[in-house]
Amino acid sequence: MPVHARHYREPALLRSATGPDAEALMSWFADRDACKLWGGPAFRHPFTPASFAEDMRFASLAGYALTDVNDTLLGFGQIYPKLQRIHLARLAIRPDMRGTGLGKRLIGEIITAGQKLFSLRDSSLFVYRRNAAARHCYSRMGFVDAAWPDRDRVLPDCQFMIRIEAVTAQDPEFI
Ligand SMILES: CC(C)(COP(=O)(O)OP(=O)(O)OC[C@H]1O[C@@H](n2cnc3c(N)ncnc32)[C@H](O)[C@@H]1OP(=O)(O)O)[C@@H](O)C(=O)NCCC(=O)NCCS
Repeated sequence: MPVHARHYREPALLRSATGPDAEALMSWFADRDACKLWGGPAFRHPFTPASFAEDMRFASLAGYALTDVNDTLLGFGQIYPKLQRIHLARLAIRPDMRGTGLGKRLIGEIITAGQKLFSLRDSSLFVYRRNAAARHCYSRMGFVDAAWPDRDRVLPDCQFMIRIEAVTAQDPEFI
């Protein structure tokens, strides 16, 4: 089915992630490679509930759940401040809902939450170059390829991307 064939038009709500959300996420990655594409090269697989929570740094990062009106989990992502930007990590949409526009909604909502939480405007993320669905989604959300951050260990298969918000007349920085 073409990725454009279905579009999720119902309300989708963002809230802070909880332990049961992390447990639900464990069923979203079918194999080691899917897990690595999402969680990064050091993510252990097969995982246990404890290793999963530890490798995703569940306790230490701000995590968000995108849900439907019945609080069923549709998407997940984490943020932390990095180089004066909101850094997005471990973004995922429930497997049966991918390609319905929820990834774009998740990213938009998480950036808005991060702007409030960290008082930052721009955002960044890492992505595997071969992750075509994620790369397409991120570029549609305004992310562009950027130079690898100096202090990070180089991962040759991955790309650093940033999104710079337009300065508007309402911004304090507008001259
Ligand atoms: C990456 C991910 C979050 C994107 O979410 P999504 O809900 O599938 O994305 P959307 O439906 O919002 O689609 C966004 C754009 O990407 C396109 N797209 C979606 N799936 C695609 C695919 N498999 N190949 C190419 N493009 C794709 C859509 O057509 C849409 O483009 P458009 O705006 O031009 O129509 C989701 O695919 C996912 O959970 N992947 C597994 C986990 C993962 O790899 N996370 C990334 C970690 S860096």
